Amino acid sequence: MIGEGTTRKVVRRIDRNDFEWLGIANTRRLSKGINRIRHGAADRYRRRRYEDSFDRLLAEAGPIEHDPGEIEDGYLLDTSLSLPHLEELIEAAEAVIAERGDRPHPERKKPFMSDLRQDQDLVDHPAFLDFVLSPPVLKVTANYMRRCPLLSRTRPPGVRLVESSSKYDPDADGPYRDSQLYHRDLHDTPLIYVIVLVRDVTEESGPFTFLPASASDRVAKATGYGKRGRPYRFSDEEVYRHATPDEAASMALPKGTVLFIDSNRCFHYGSRDCVVPRYQVMYAFTSPCRTDLSEHLMQAKRYPVREGDPTLRKLALDRAHPRFR
Ligand SMILES: [Fe+2]
Repeated sequence: MIGEGTTRKVVRRIDRNDFEWLGIANTRRLSKGINRIRHGAADRYRRRRYEDSFDRLLAEAGPIEHDPGEIEDGYLLDTSLSLPHLEELIEAAEAVIAERGDRPHPERKKPFMSDLRQDQDLVDHPAFLDFVLSPPVLKVTANYMRRCPLLSRTRPPGVRLVESSSKYDPDADGPYRDSQLYHRDLHDTPLIYVIVLVRDVTEESGPFTFLPASASDRVAKATGYGKRGRPYRFSDEEVYRHATPDEAASMALPKGTVLFIDSNRCFHYGSRDCVVPRYQVMYAFTSPCRTDLSEHLMQAKRYPVREGDPTLRKLALDRAHPRFR
């Protein structure tokens, strides 16, 4: 974290997304440049490890019994229900839901959703990390990012258990807002979400919905997305002027379904009209050189690391090399 004073004020202003005068794309470019000063070496290290020794690191992390394939057109859907630790993850999520679910949501800006997870859950329920740091999940992520990936430690949180429900939203009948509207996440590029459905999702649970990368790029180009004066979020009408609704994919799918998605590339929304609460575990992977300044302003999370953890897992938790913590 940076110290108090002028620099912090400038960083805070940039981070507050003064898009009006700079635009989203310029703000992100500037943030990336600032982050390169401090984390450029770490990023180069992760790329090098991927290029030189990824197969070895992967083999050291354990066998792959089911290979989900590669991310194409910005996403990969795995409906096999056979990724490692998936069953334990769903059990762990249900235990947390039983303890903390279905209570008023604290976030005033987004009362329609809430992250139920607490830090201790990662210790009490190892499946939260064991699933996302398993060899097949890291393989898909690393192959897309072309580097050893890093679990986000600021925004968005690297591990969330998200409850979406209209029950605690005082404006549930009002127009859609915030992440209920189409947008592309701005924290990094690429930014990989791994989303696991904890329960069956139907249209009554406000499914996560997205446009593949090619359709998203078409929308971004036609609308000037990211340029000065352009909004961060778009209405459906605006988006469907340049894409068709049947190009959108909805995660109204059975529990245990896993989606890998570049949420920086693919326009997406979710948590609309959640009459039946929706529960999903959401993971986020970034590079060390993000396109936001959250690491300058927030205390980065520390994840639990065990002595004998494989290098790839430690790298994802940011502890593999003392120089790059
Ligand atoms: Fe998003």
